[in-house]
Amino acid sequence: MTSTNSTTLNCPSTRVSIIGAGKVGSTLAQRIAEKNLADVVLLDIVEGWPQGIALDLMQARGVERHDRQIVGTNNYTDTANSNIIVIAAGIPRKPGLNREDLIKINAKIVTEAAQQAIAHSPEAILIVITNPLDVMTYLAWEASGLPKHRVMGMAGVLDSARFQTFIAMELGVSIAEVNATVLGSHGDLMVPLPRYSTVSGIPISQLMDAGTIDRLVDRTRNGGVEVVKLMKTSSAYFAPASAACLMVESILLNQSRLLPCSVYLDGQYGVQDIFLGVFCRLGYQGIEQILELELSDTERAAFADSGKLVLQTIESAKLILEKAH
Ligand code: APR
Repeated sequence: MTSTNSTTLNCPSTRVSIIGAGKVGSTLAQRIAEKNLADVVLLDIVEGWPQGIALDLMQARGVERHDRQIVGTNNYTDTANSNIIVIAAGIPRKPGLNREDLIKINAKIVTEAAQQAIAHSPEAILIVITNPLDVMTYLAWEASGLPKHRVMGMAGVLDSARFQTFIAMELGVSIAEVNATVLGSHGDLMVPLPRYSTVSGIPISQLMDAGTIDRLVDRTRNGGVEVVKLMKTSSAYFAPASAACLMVESILLNQSRLLPCSVYLDGQYGVQDIFLGVFCRLGYQGIEQILELELSDTERAAFADSGKLVLQTIESAKLILEKAH
């Protein structure tokens, strides 16, 4: 089934294609369109599903009053000439599915999606959301053949947003004043950096004791798990979609925001040949600059541990993929 919406994207426009019209993908489509950032193509493997979501979002335009086109499709030709491709396709971790099986399934989905999408949009920037994030971003980059400054994973913005939320909740202050930093991998070994976290420019260490900071760091590390435990049949999607939308916005509007993203490291922080979360400048060309913060010995060791685990998982993912072929 190809796109069935009455409107097709047949005039040149800024376009974001989202592969995977599930909860994250469809919420991201809504945010992008309602923020008037771009037209959106939603692609999914399930026939009728992305077309239905797109039509629903189009009908909302009667209330939201934006003129962005949203198209649902099962065919990659409809994604042609996208400025940005976002991969949010995959299956979530669920009971009875071990980590190896999850990697195997998502690796196949993500690599095929990257190849097919980039074949139709060779100039696009690729943003990966599928978990395990840093590993899937690496595999998508390899499969796409894109230069490294045009491939990135969404995790740091989400993890930092969670840390910011918990700091604001703890202190009872407006989130508008809170900045928090989380680098490293998206998972148990992420590296929240209280030293680089402030409220109105004041380091959080001056506003709360060490025990409280540790508790908030821990809650941030488990931010996704806490949501799954409550929802049971779904993982988080509002905050992930918001985080991805911020990256899309910084790229399309050439804002050069400094955002933590999973990017290819080539010696930065002493790390080689993996994707890991660090601050970078995001603009129209993709990753314009990677920033190397000064880290304490403890922070650097935590970052290195985070990288080691990602490297091991990339290696085992590659073996799993080789065996599957
Ligand atoms: N091609 C296109 N779409 C696919 C494919 C494929 N080969 N395989 C699966 N999909 C689609 C599914 O049909 C589904 O609509 O991907 C979508 C995934 O949606 P959800 O199950 O709702 O998952 P979601 O909560 O959106 O999470 C997507 O983002 O945050 C991460 O861990 C999360 O890896 C997961 C991803």
